[in-house]
Amino acid sequence: MKNKKSVFITIEGCEGCGKTTQSELLKKYLQSKGLNVILTREPGGSVVAEQVRNILLNPDFKVAPYCELMLYEASRAQHLEDIIKPNLEKGYVVICDRFTDSTLAYQGYARGIDKEIIKKLNNIATLGLKPDLTIYLDINPNKGIKKAKTINKGKLTGGDRIERESLKFHNNVRKGFLELVKKYPDRIKKIKTNEVIEKTQRQINKEIDKFFKKKRIYV
Ligand code: TMP
Repeated sequence: MKNKKSVFITIEGCEGCGKTTQSELLKKYLQSKGLNVILTREPGGSVVAEQVRNILLNPDFKVAPYCELMLYEASRAQHLEDIIKPNLEKGYVVICDRFTDSTLAYQGYARGIDKEIIKKLNNIATLGLKPDLTIYLDINPNKGIKKAKTINKGKLTGGDRIERESLKFHNNVRKGFLELVKKYPDRIKKIKTNEVIEKTQRQINKEIDKFFKKKRIYV
């Protein structure tokens, strides 16, 4: 699936950590280095996968835990075929706003589904593809949730189906991400989200530069 030049980067974090803004800034930064870059997201990222996203995030739906897990994986399997795989084959840098670590953190650590089952399903949906580098943006859910709900709706409202989960749920998501950072220190780089967007961006770019220099993609 991967071409010599292609790089697969994922951006992870709890609600309101600033992933979406930082993903867009990262795309521009890498383009300024002369690289071909696409930015995509999960759940969603392609026509069919975005339809699955609509089901997953609709606050009017009550979704059973295994249905939720399999819908995230279904969206991923489609997104992989439609967007991730073809762009990696073309030699592009693919930046994905959330990927398999989110499923472990949300459906595993927070929802309580067996992580071994999740790892197997992640593996099936991704055809075994792993990110080359993951940036984890750390924020205290107490702060993040308020921010996420404000951003999403322009004013403070109930938020989407996942944002409406309890603070305890979101704290468990964060615990999950922090455990993943410990487990995969070579792949996942933790960056504390700063109120000042440019400060967070500088820290991300530092990690990105280190990674690309090691790969000899740019120096
Ligand atoms: P977003 O807010 O980053 O667009 O993501 C949508 C929501 O989906 C967010 O609350 C995190 C959640 N999610 C999971 O629960 N499991 C997953 O596998 C993914 C990719 C996202």
